[in-house]
Amino acid sequence: MAAATLRPWIAQFILNNARLIAYQPLLAPLPTLSTRCNQTRHSSHAPAPSQSALPVSAKPVTIHTIRDLHRKNIPITMLTAHDFPSASLASAAGMDLILVGDSLAMVSLGMPDTSEVMLEDMILHARAVSRAAARSFTIGDLPMGCYEVSPEQALQSAIRMLKEGRMQSVKLEGGKDFADTIKKITSAGISVCGHIGLTPQRQHALGGFRVQGRTTSAADKLLMDARAVQEAGAFAVVLECVPPEIASIITSKLSIPTIGIGAGNGCSGQVLVQMDMLGCRPEGSFLPKFVKRYGDVWERSLAAIEQYRDEVKTRKYPADQHNYAVDEAVVKAFKAIADKSDENP
Ligand code: KIV
Repeated sequence: MAAATLRPWIAQFILNNARLIAYQPLLAPLPTLSTRCNQTRHSSHAPAPSQSALPVSAKPVTIHTIRDLHRKNIPITMLTAHDFPSASLASAAGMDLILVGDSLAMVSLGMPDTSEVMLEDMILHARAVSRAAARSFTIGDLPMGCYEVSPEQALQSAIRMLKEGRMQSVKLEGGKDFADTIKKITSAGISVCGHIGLTPQRQHALGGFRVQGRTTSAADKLLMDARAVQEAGAFAVVLECVPPEIASIITSKLSIPTIGIGAGNGCSGQVLVQMDMLGCRPEGSFLPKFVKRYGDVWERSLAAIEQYRDEVKTRKYPADQHNYAVDEAVVKAFKAIADKSDENP
C-alpha cells in the first residue's frame, strides 16, 4: 500500500473510534475529517499546525471536565503519546487525557526499561506532544530519579515539566510514601496524577512486572496508598495491574477518579500505551495481557514501505503526477548547453 493510501486509512481509523465515544453529546463536537484536512498540512514541507488551527468548537478538556465526567460516572479516556503525530491522533480521536508516559523509554527510544530515560528526554517529547494536543488535557510523567530525593526536587522537576515541557499536569509513581511529595507539588498549583499498583519504575523492587493487590493485606495497602494520594491533592490516580474486583472496591472508596491499566472495567477511566494498542510491533510480539490490539499499524506500514521499495526499484515511482513541470524550451536549451559542456568540460 502506498503512503498516499495509508493516510486515508488512518483518518478513517480516527473517525471510527471517534464515533464510538458514547458521551460525545456532553462535549463540544469533535473536528470533522474535512475541517482537519483543510486546516493544516502534516508533511515534511509544511510548518506544524499551531493550536489556534483547531476549530473553535473543539473545547479543550480541563481539570473541571475530568471532575465532571467522574461525577457523571462517564468513563475517562487516557492514551499515551510521545511525539507530535501520536498526540495529533490522540487529540483528534477525542481522548480526554494524553499522557506523555515514561513508557517512551521502551516503545519509542528502544531502552530496556524506564530507568534509563531522563527528565530532559521526557521534556523534549512532552513539548512535541503539547504542540498537537489542542483539545486533550496533558500529563507529563516524571521519570525515575527526578522526584524521589525530596519534595523540593520533585517540585523543581514538575515545574520544568510545565514550563519547558508545556504539560498541564504531572504524574508520578508512588503511594503513601510520596504523599508529601504530591502535596508539595499540588500546593504550588500544579495538578498531579498518582500512579499505584504496579509501578514499573520500581519493577526490580517489586520482583518484576507482577499483578499487585492479590492478597487481602496487599489490597488493603493499595487502598491506603490510593487514599493518601487523594488526600495529598492528586486529581486522579492510575491503578496498574490490579485484579478488577480490588480496583472496583478502591474506586468506590475514592472521591477522585481511578484510571485503570490492567485493572478491569470498574475504574473511572482507562489508559493504554498508544504504540501497543495500535499494533506498532509485528504480530506475535509480547504484549501484556491487558492490551487489546485495536490496530495493525505494523503490518500496514510494512506493506506500504515494501511497496515503496518495489516501486523505486522498478522506477514506477515517482510517476508523472509527482513531478514538477518545466517549459519544454527550457529543457531543450539546457540540454544544448549541457551537451556543449561535454565537449568543453
Ligand atoms: O509510562 C506510561 O506509559 C504509563 C502508563 C502505562 C500508565 O505510566
